[in-house]
Amino acid sequence: MAEAVRLEREDEVAVLVIDSPPVNALGLAVRAGLADGLAAALADDGVKAIVIRAEGRTFPAGADISEFGKPPQDPWLPEVCNRIEASPKPVVAAVHGTALGGGFEVALSAHWRIALASAKVGLPEVTLGILPGAGGTQRTPRLIGAEQALDMMISGKPVPAAKALAMGLLDEVVDDDLPGAALRLARRLIAEGAAPRPTRDRRDGMRDAVAYEQAVAAARKAQGANRLPGPRRIVDCVEAALLLPFDQGLHFERTAFQELVASPEAAGLRHAFFSERRAAKMPEAASPARPVAHVAVVGGGLMGAGIAYACLSAGYNVSLMERDREGLARGLERIAKLQESAVAKGRMSAAQREADWARLSGVMDMAQLAGADLAIEAVFEDFDVKADVLRGLDAVLKPGAVLATNTSYLDVDALAAVTARPADVVGLHFFSPAHVMRLLEIVVGKATAPDAVATGLALAKKLGKVAVRSGVCDGFIGNRILTAYRQVAEFLVEDGATPAQVDRAMRAFGMPLGPFEVSDMAGLQIAWARRKRLAATRDPAKRYVAVADRLCEAGRFGQSTGKGWYRYDGRKAVEDPEVLAIIEAERAAKGITPRSFADAEISTRLMVAMANEGARILAEGIALRPSDIDVVKLFGYGFPRWEGGPMHWADGFGILQLKNAVQDYAEQAPDFWQPAPNLDAMILNGTRFADLNEG
Ligand code: CAA
Repeated sequence: MAEAVRLEREDEVAVLVIDSPPVNALGLAVRAGLADGLAAALADDGVKAIVIRAEGRTFPAGADISEFGKPPQDPWLPEVCNRIEASPKPVVAAVHGTALGGGFEVALSAHWRIALASAKVGLPEVTLGILPGAGGTQRTPRLIGAEQALDMMISGKPVPAAKALAMGLLDEVVDDDLPGAALRLARRLIAEGAAPRPTRDRRDGMRDAVAYEQAVAAARKAQGANRLPGPRRIVDCVEAALLLPFDQGLHFERTAFQELVASPEAAGLRHAFFSERRAAKMPEAASPARPVAHVAVVGGGLMGAGIAYACLSAGYNVSLMERDREGLARGLERIAKLQESAVAKGRMSAAQREADWARLSGVMDMAQLAGADLAIEAVFEDFDVKADVLRGLDAVLKPGAVLATNTSYLDVDALAAVTARPADVVGLHFFSPAHVMRLLEIVVGKATAPDAVATGLALAKKLGKVAVRSGVCDGFIGNRILTAYRQVAEFLVEDGATPAQVDRAMRAFGMPLGPFEVSDMAGLQIAWARRKRLAATRDPAKRYVAVADRLCEAGRFGQSTGKGWYRYDGRKAVEDPEVLAIIEAERAAKGITPRSFADAEISTRLMVAMANEGARILAEGIALRPSDIDVVKLFGYGFPRWEGGPMHWADGFGILQLKNAVQDYAEQAPDFWQPAPNLDAMILNGTRFADLNEG
């Protein structure tokens, strides 16, 4: 028997102990171990009952996702589950940690399920673009009915043990000593002469056909707009569970699983899963983080208040600093509002709000921040303003405190240089709203000490954020790509598309909003101020689209002013002839004859622009690996998860095709459309971005 599963004997009970860190995923060794262990237990006449449990942090957290997309190897998980279920001796699954996906399907094929109170069970396959493929779609409805089964599989959300017990997914929940409790249950079953209770034969949840039909109809309606095929197929499988004999239902499930697992959407979602985890692997992660209990946030605007609220909710003591009484009152008010809304939505208890509020202090004098372990400046995006704050912090903070700047574009090295401790300065780039958006770019300067970076990483973890390491450049990873993306969106508009067409094309690609809708939502003022600042140093030979400037000059600053790239009826964006006239005037002034673009060409150009800029960022060593770039776009910019990110998209598009496309587009703006310097070598060596992800 493979060592990933041990067979132990406790008198008449055989215990199969799964031991395959970190999460006991059901890779080949575990599947083979389970099959062999089961066969041995069945062959042994002295064994009267079987317990399956796991060592370490969790009962299997699922199939081994890294095996998907590779040829399947026997024994398959569905077959292992069938063999467990077919055991003539009662089988008990003892669940702790997170029994997810295939892990929970193993438990479903056992005859009894006992769990620790802290355990969670779930079928999250939908988040990977697939469906439960080891009998989950057939067994779950048999236990708990179609409605709850559909809800569980379509939401993908794990269910805590107490609720799972109430639903009928579990038979018993214990507070401690799960192995002992599982043994006691097995012995009781032996004593009672209990016959195995195969889930396939149970109909507990299938009694009410009307409720079932309603559930299926509701599920179909709810996922109608969802373009991913997973939820649709889950509904089909649950229908099969009701209408077909068990084995036919299993066959139906298998066919649907195989169709989904090979889909590009599932590949994109798998890539997203592993990329998120890989991003935390930065060289500085090996350094010990500096201890942080007290966080100072300078600036009580939307961003500062959001950061302060997130830090409070994560348990830090927080000082919020503003220059004057009014500013401070507004900042504190913002935090109070965020708390209120969390309480109203049931995400925070009133007692928690009180406790958090007690850990917050508002200050107007920087000297009062002296005790902070980490200070984050979130003041206006202007070098001199930020430099002043950092100088002030440098003067008062204790030695060893980390000074973080939340700049989105500015040179972190130059900002660090205004302090006497550049090694303690790091960029922590939050995304708005800071308490919601999961991305945190950790910008590492020339002088930044590894343990200052590790401190940022530890903060991200505590705030539940996904941290990505970025080097210093204008806009870091995310905003630099955004700049290229917007640039091309504006070229397209000046060359003949309308803003509405560009937005529609990108929504069809999967973005929640198109570039102009986003621009209107965020407001056009900050970018305008930045363009004005950079105007003196702009290269006149480079193509410059001035439509946004004209909009700002006309007082069209986006949604907040009721008009921008669109006119707003309430929150509804309406195409505005005034904007189209401004665009036409710009075209006429430059002598551009407008041409038409198909939506697909628009989205391809924008994707090529993102991927090419991403490749450049990689070539310059700003990002550690292509998947980090994908993570930035997925978690900070609403990039559709099933597309995996721009670099994953580029692998699908082809590296040679990427370079050719850039060259084809060159007539649009020769200065902009230059292939990234690393593409040639990649083409020559047959390298894809995915090949550069390890490490
Ligand atoms: N397959 C392969 N590797 C897995 C894995 C899986 N199912 N689940 C987790 N891992 C790996 C992670 O990649 C990570 O590896 P590294 O340390 O090398 O980065 C390691 O296990 C630890 O994972 P986390 O960092 O995520 O640890 P966590 O404690 O924060 O979370 C978890 C643990 C809740 C189990 C989380 O990892 C998770 O949600 N895993 C995926 C669960 C899942 O989707 N299961 C369904 C799989 S599909 C399936 O089972 C299909 C089927 O029907 C047959």
